Amino acid sequence: MDQLNGSANLMIVSDLDFTMVDHDDPENLALLRFNALWEAYYRHNSLLVFSTGRSPTIYCELRKQKPLLTPDITIMSVGTEITYGESMVPDDRWEHYLNHKWNRDIVLEETARLPELVLQSETEQRPHKVSFYLDKTKASKVMQTLSRCLEKRGLDVKIIYSNGIALDILPQAAGKGQALEFLLGKLKADGSRPLNTLVCGDSGNDAELFTVPGVYGVMVC
Ligand code: GLC
Ligand code: MG
Repeated sequence: MDQLNGSANLMIVSDLDFTMVDHDDPENLALLRFNALWEAYYRHNSLLVFSTGRSPTIYCELRKQKPLLTPDITIMSVGTEITYGESMVPDDRWEHYLNHKWNRDIVLEETARLPELVLQSETEQRPHKVSFYLDKTKASKVMQTLSRCLEKRGLDVKIIYSNGIALDILPQAAGKGQALEFLLGKLKADGSRPLNTLVCGDSGNDAELFTVPGVYGVMVC
């Protein structure tokens, strides 16, 4: 990122699973083609941002399994964690900002009352993200109940359902779209807002990427 002088010509903000990474392509042909194109024509004046629901732990696992480029910026845990560069320096200001009307103990307390919610693995539970599995047929009712209970407890949360199975509870100010807006604001303040931004994604947690003003989008089917 620091090697860029001024604004990036293009900033690609891409989801990983089933967007940047095609899990049905064992030879990784599409990914390798993208990598070659990026290195040859874009790297020198553009920014690559990965935006994933994965926690740092399973993002790093994916990096070992697939030939992913090293992005300039990594947004993980459904837009609750932002890191910069190869050494993945965290944006503490972003994480601090997410504390507003957030209390994960209350989230755990209220969700424990709903037997339909099955906690995901420990690695996917993060400071500003509590994640469950939830059956599709029960999703809408459970989300309504949960949203009412948490509001009554004084929290302001965002509940996102993805892939017909995963339910994430985040602070209202978090999410992939909000993280991107924060990033664009930061780049603008530095006088380096990208000239073009392209967002790419395929599932529930990507939906808000397409609502960010002024960006182009690719919805992967
Ligand atoms: C990723 C995360 C999981 C989350 C899902 C949907 O699979 O590992 O915790 O629920 O994305 O956002
Ligand atoms: Mg995806």
